[in-house]
Amino acid sequence: MSLKFRTRKVVKPEDLNCNQTLFGGRLLSWIDEECGIYCACQMQTKTLITKYISEMNFMSPAHLGEVIEIGVETVDVGRTSLTVSCVVRDKMTERTIIKIDRIVFVAVSETGRPVRHALSHLVSKPKTDNEPAPKLPETHWWTNLLSKKPWKSKSEV
Ligand SMILES: CC(C)(COP(=O)(O)OP(=O)(O)OC[C@H]1O[C@@H](n2cnc3c(N)ncnc32)[C@H](O)[C@@H]1OP(=O)(O)O)[C@@H](O)C(=O)NCCC(=O)NCCS
Repeated sequence: MSLKFRTRKVVKPEDLNCNQTLFGGRLLSWIDEECGIYCACQMQTKTLITKYISEMNFMSPAHLGEVIEIGVETVDVGRTSLTVSCVVRDKMTERTIIKIDRIVFVAVSETGRPVRHALSHLVSKPKTDNEPAPKLPETHWWTNLLSKKPWKSKSEV
């Protein structure tokens, strides 16, 4: 597993706090969105929710005009969940701005209940039933969005 930095953001005036540095809430919103897109691609679902965010360590501030990049990697695959870690760093200097060790997303049904996702067959011990892994189409609309295969093969996870 390796951290992939796919998304960059420039810090604009409306992103600043009273100290004229990047507002933490804005940064968390960017992280939640980036990790959510990553997990949606990996789990091949459009319906997922953020379940859990572990301790967050704001390590250094970002300032107006700086470009930051957001890196995400898979750390755990569950039956209905996917856990990722996230690092945000300064694009130019690679100085770390924040690290979050575990962010858990859960695939949900239309009624908001947890459902199995595309990688759930990789879980060694299924919870209770013998329900087969969902049959997936060869292509998916997320594929078009990212212009490449958005999920990892079994050997990559
Ligand atoms: C997500 C939600 C549907 C899960 O319901 P639930 O009854 O806890 O479901 P389960 O106990 O079956 O857990 C579902 C998955 O979440 C994981 N999970 C549950 N609580 C967790 C926690 N505190 N930390 C990490 N993972 C957790 C479980 O391990 C399970 O994963 P797995 O199937 O891969 O093993 C429900 O808690 C919910 O709707 N929460 C609100 C989510 C929300 O509003 N988010 C903010 C906006 S996106």
